[in-house]
Amino acid sequence: MRTYLVTGGAGFIGSNYIHYMLKKYGDEIRVINVDKLTYAGNLENLKDIEKRENYVFIQADICDSEKINHIFEENEIDRVVHFAAESHVDRSITDPEIFVKTNVLGTSVMLNAAKKAWEQPDGTFKKDKKFLHVSTDEVYGSLENSDEFFYETTPYDPHSPYSASKASSDMLVKSYIDTYRFPANITNCSNNYGPYQFPEKLIPLIINNSLQGKKIPVYGDGKNVRDWLYVEDHAKAIDMVQEKGKLFEKYNIGGHNEKQNIEIIHIILETLHNMLPEDDARKSRINESLITYVTDRKGHDRRYAISPDKMKKETGWVPDTMFSEGIRLTVKWYLDHQDWMKNVTSGEYQNYYKKMYDAKTE
Ligand code: NAD
Ligand code: TYD
Repeated sequence: MRTYLVTGGAGFIGSNYIHYMLKKYGDEIRVINVDKLTYAGNLENLKDIEKRENYVFIQADICDSEKINHIFEENEIDRVVHFAAESHVDRSITDPEIFVKTNVLGTSVMLNAAKKAWEQPDGTFKKDKKFLHVSTDEVYGSLENSDEFFYETTPYDPHSPYSASKASSDMLVKSYIDTYRFPANITNCSNNYGPYQFPEKLIPLIINNSLQGKKIPVYGDGKNVRDWLYVEDHAKAIDMVQEKGKLFEKYNIGGHNEKQNIEIIHIILETLHNMLPEDDARKSRINESLITYVTDRKGHDRRYAISPDKMKKETGWVPDTMFSEGIRLTVKWYLDHQDWMKNVTSGEYQNYYKKMYDAKTE
């Protein structure tokens, strides 16, 4: 039975990936989920699978090399899928240091532990061991023109402390591939959306604020473009890279779904409005009057757009979920899981929201 070590599995993409993998492979695989459980990690995301015999959760910090090495010593790990990271650009602007620590140092610890466990006396690696480093399109910087795309060969040009820390971690993984022929892949994906995303990110923030009758803060002119992918399609892509991709290669993942932030806001307002029943008191107040323009994010990247050509050609991956369907599923999920939202936004989130948004003027 193949054993997966998933880092950051109680966060947004990691928990969706674990759901996807256990649904796809059932009892054929074993999953060890290693997560520190920061504000972004929530075991409720995996409640439905926590009792499975082929799933284990270990609370650990990826910067803790002793603990991470111990996990490798105690288990024959076949695949590492490394999601754990600090992931929010706005937080990286106010508190960059933790991004360097977790994203760079943590990745270094993961690489060293896997190398130690998998390297053989002659310097080659045990058969069929693979490490996948999950990264972002933000490492490529910002595009200006609508006919430009990020390719795997696009030079790195990160602007935020978040993207700089992810770029650094990508470079570390690349150096292990180049120096040791360490069996790894790097994937750079566009913005994800879907269930279990923490409401500090744009799409769940719009849904949450709208339902509460709170203003929807739009940074700058609202015309910044992001390339949105339904999270399950990202999970599928990661699996396909490990199963069908070429080892040592880097793959860009995206679904050619570029939208301005303001377009996203309009789509969600309309979807929410249509989905709420007639007798729901919130229905009438979900409209454009909630939109408010606020001070722009510092260093705000204008446009991201991925070319997924290599991914399609070499692994056969194509996204399954069109944006119209994905956004309907997402809004419905949040409507059906309002307790989840209540739990993750109680306590610390209130302080975060106040700190981040009270400073932004209209
Ligand atoms: P997230 O913030 O929702 O989850 C991150 C998880 O990592 C959390 O469970 C958190 O507890 C855990 N974690 C943080 N620090 C840790 C540490 N020191 N040790 C162990 N666990 C720790 O993030 P996400 O949106 O699910 O992103 C996952 C990965 O995918 C990240 O590496 C991110 O850079 C990358 N990515 C995200 C997107 C996106 O749109 N969200 C797009 C492309 C790539
Ligand atoms: P976000 O979800 O933080 O993802 P990223 O910055 O990693 O792309 O933001 C997506 C876009 O939405 C980005 O251009 C910033 C913008 N944005 C707002 O306009 N208002 C908000 O309150 C947030 C959180 C983001």
